[in-house]
Amino acid sequence: MVELVSDYRDFDFASLWQGREKVTDVERELLRLAFHPPGRQRILEIGTGFGRLTRTLTGLAAEVVCSDFDSHSLGRLDFPDPPGGPTMRVAANVFHLPFVDGAFTDASMVRVHHHLADPRAAMRELYRVLQGAGRLVVSYNPKPTIGTFVNDVRRATRRAGTTPFESTTFSPKGRIELRPDPFPIYVASRRRFAEDLEAAGFELEREMVSGLEEHCPVKYASTRAIVRLAEVFGRAPTFPTRWAIARCGKAPMPLPPGDQLLACPRCRAPLELPQDGAAPSCRTCGYVGRRTSGRVLDLRYLGEGAVRVGSRPPQAPALR
Ligand SMILES: C[S@@+](CC[C@H](N)C(=O)[O-])C[C@H]1O[C@@H](n2cnc3c(N)ncnc32)[C@H](O)[C@@H]1O
Repeated sequence: MVELVSDYRDFDFASLWQGREKVTDVERELLRLAFHPPGRQRILEIGTGFGRLTRTLTGLAAEVVCSDFDSHSLGRLDFPDPPGGPTMRVAANVFHLPFVDGAFTDASMVRVHHHLADPRAAMRELYRVLQGAGRLVVSYNPKPTIGTFVNDVRRATRRAGTTPFESTTFSPKGRIELRPDPFPIYVASRRRFAEDLEAAGFELEREMVSGLEEHCPVKYASTRAIVRLAEVFGRAPTFPTRWAIARCGKAPMPLPPGDQLLACPRCRAPLELPQDGAAPSCRTCGYVGRRTSGRVLDLRYLGEGAVRVGSRPPQAPALR
């Protein structure tokens, strides 16, 4: 399967969130619930973006590592460090994570799954870098839901001429690619999502739901009440977003110290961070990373034939 990476570099994601504070409040509360009890040891955040949820994670764990393909957003992050020391910011591709096996006790991936053409490959990477009893929290856009139905109606009525219309809501396919907006968007049936998770080694423990607060007067309810609904209706099929809480079922292993987390994203050999500020390089395969201003370690790697999809097609490189 082609490795597709959504490149947010030229995309003003933060401006999409103006006026949506209620949604962020609900999602912060869902994270607190998912990572209960607090006092986790080391959380990996995949797809940090502009740090909308990072402040919540730094309140739940001694150490947090922020990771995103967009190195520029990582460089601009501004939030208090957790008790265990400064938060590491690592620009990385979720399909080739630059961390050693079992580097994290927990991981969170919010609003990223819908960009992944091959979610199973990403889940396998997350499984690899998690500890034996590690917890993964991942949000995804399922089908069918009220959201896919509204989307279907919009698409059916706006369809030009003889363009064939394919319903997302009623399609028997396990996974559907929607029209890029501006990045590729995928929705998966709940069964397909669970299969992907389990194929990677995870055990799905529980699901919570959200998303109505974006679309209806529920936004005027208290955050606590909405989150209670998310718990109670965890099995209901209609909500636009689902939050899966999964456990990594592998044998326990020692947690590596904070200065031994890095691995080469290409060959996975342990990677040392030179003390003199030089760029980290892999002694085994020759891969060279970068250190950028704003405390970002750039350890991105794109697999053979990977396609990088930008938000502005004329300027964005189509291929790596
Ligand atoms: C919709 S944003 C969500 C950001 C943040 N989690 C939030 O909820 O505010 C998706 C994020 O996923 C990142 N992303 C997309 N594809 C990625 C990949 N292959 N590897 C790492 N990050 C990726 C993007 O750079 C972007 O920051």
